[in-house]
Amino acid sequence: MQEKQAARRSTGGAPATAVLGSASELPGKPVAASASVLATLVEVADTNPMGNIHGGVIMKLADQAAAAAAIRHSQHICVTASIDRLDFLNPVRVGDMVELKSAVNYTHRSSMEVGVRIEAERLQTGERKHVATALLIFVALDENCRPVTVPPVIPETPEEQARFRDGQARYKERAEKRQRERSSARPG
Ligand SMILES: CC(C)(COP(=O)(O)OP(=O)(O)OC[C@H]1O[C@@H](n2cnc3c(N)ncnc32)[C@H](O)[C@@H]1OP(=O)(O)O)[C@@H](O)C(=O)NCCC(=O)NCCS
Repeated sequence: MQEKQAARRSTGGAPATAVLGSASELPGKPVAASASVLATLVEVADTNPMGNIHGGVIMKLADQAAAAAAIRHSQHICVTASIDRLDFLNPVRVGDMVELKSAVNYTHRSSMEVGVRIEAERLQTGERKHVATALLIFVALDENCRPVTVPPVIPETPEEQARFRDGQARYKERAEKRQRERSSARPG
């Protein structure tokens, strides 16, 4: 509920106050401030003998695109804590241009969920396809490589607010899972 209030508290890109209900006391930043685009041409070395891109190439590009959004948002060094999901929807061919759009969906204290939408364009025809979607979790680190508090993200549009709520639910699920794993790993 408090985070819903935070979501409505748009600062119009010039945040001056901490976002109420957030795990962070820092001034909030809109999703748009982290939005990033990475584009590249698919080369022969990126593809299998069928001429389709290797999944690992998409994973690396998604990691890079998501890192750009996380660093933009936090203005800190960030590490990938986990890849929550990566769905391949359509093949990408040699010679296609791949475009990755990333932005921070949700922030807690030091962690950020970043969404990446990946499209491919067949340059000869202009045909564009949504080829993959990824969700990655980044943690911002200070100069001693310890997790550091990031500004709360402020979702402004209805789509951003829906992604924020979904990211919040996923954060809770992951935290509970890690807690269960820690408990079961304890001796006795
Ligand atoms: C990610 C990392 C910094 C977390 O360190 P930690 O000592 O576990 O830190 P904490 O338990 O205090 O958790 C810090 C944050 O990380 C999040 N986190 C930790 N492990 C996570 C995981 N596996 N998946 C998602 N989030 C995770 C926590 O939820 C917490 O978020 P919050 O501050 O927003 O609540 C540490 O595990 C690490 O350095 N991992 C290696 C990262 C790496 O090398 N990545 C690949 C190359 S970049």
